[in-house]
Amino acid sequence: MAATEPIDIIELGVGDAQAGLVLSTEAGWNQNEADWRFFLSQGVVFGMRDGARLVATAALLRYSAGNAWISMVLVTADFRRRGIATKLVDACLNVAAERGLTTWLDATPAGATVYGPLGFTPTLQLRRLRLTKPQGAGASRSLSAGHLDALAARDASAMGFDRSTLLSEFSARPGSRIVSDDRTVALVRDGRTARHIGPLLADRADQALALVDAIVRSETGPWLIDAVHSQEEFLSGLVASGWNIERPFQRMCFGPAAISPAQPPFAVAGPEFG
Ligand SMILES: CC(C)(COP(=O)(O)OP(=O)(O)OC[C@H]1O[C@@H](n2cnc3c(N)ncnc32)[C@H](O)[C@@H]1OP(=O)(O)O)[C@@H](O)C(=O)NCCC(=O)NCCS
Repeated sequence: MAATEPIDIIELGVGDAQAGLVLSTEAGWNQNEADWRFFLSQGVVFGMRDGARLVATAALLRYSAGNAWISMVLVTADFRRRGIATKLVDACLNVAAERGLTTWLDATPAGATVYGPLGFTPTLQLRRLRLTKPQGAGASRSLSAGHLDALAARDASAMGFDRSTLLSEFSARPGSRIVSDDRTVALVRDGRTARHIGPLLADRADQALALVDAIVRSETGPWLIDAVHSQEEFLSGLVASGWNIERPFQRMCFGPAAISPAQPPFAVAGPEFG
């Protein structure tokens, strides 16, 4: 137990990016400082401090058409099981209710135990996969630079709402690239410990797998991808080519889901972004 109790929920600012990164790094997550800056500048991020030390966070990121994502729900190890995550998520839900937003999140198994009692219900499932050592280099299909507009349009049809602001910020970061190959498009960006592939949009699993193969042959990695579980052929193809399933995520929605996307993506932008 810590010597002092964290007192109040506070709203954090961009100056808290480093402290936020300490929390996500403690949890072993892949976010970098640019991710934290995005949440802190574009979203509402609540936190709790113990003295000067930031000990917990939760973020609400508004998207379009009345949708928002809750993420970065983190409580440092010695402050867990005191109701802090519940209070911070509740604060996010209050803001969402004031603004008339439907809230979504992608929960770790520990997170799902917090969100269920708050009223979140499960929707689709994700699997996080890691590729540490790509299989030997060799000939691969051509990989072209993709366009932000095309990525944003396909992402919007897969999500059911527009996320141009997010995708535009991602693609402008040093180390990011949008790649496409025939009827597929994906975004690749830096993370703290691994390059991340997603969102990845395609018509068919074989096309999605070919794009992933071309990407991992074009750089050294290591790699992370968050695959949609119902894309079974894609998931089993990744495993067959050396990717390891690290953990599940459960997508959950608070209140009735007002959107019904035409076809889910093959891989998402990340559990923290949806
Ligand atoms: C998940 C996490 C945010 C929970 O924070 P917390 O402040 O301990 O959560 P709360 O105290 O509000 O928990 C509320 C309830 O959720 C359940 N719960 C929370 N953590 C649990 C765990 N590890 N195992 C089982 N149940 C758990 C319990 O029912 C708990 O109530 P109780 O303590 O009265 O039994 C924290 O463990 C954490 O930061 N984990 C690592 C990062 C992570 O996975 N974040 C969630 C991302 S979706």
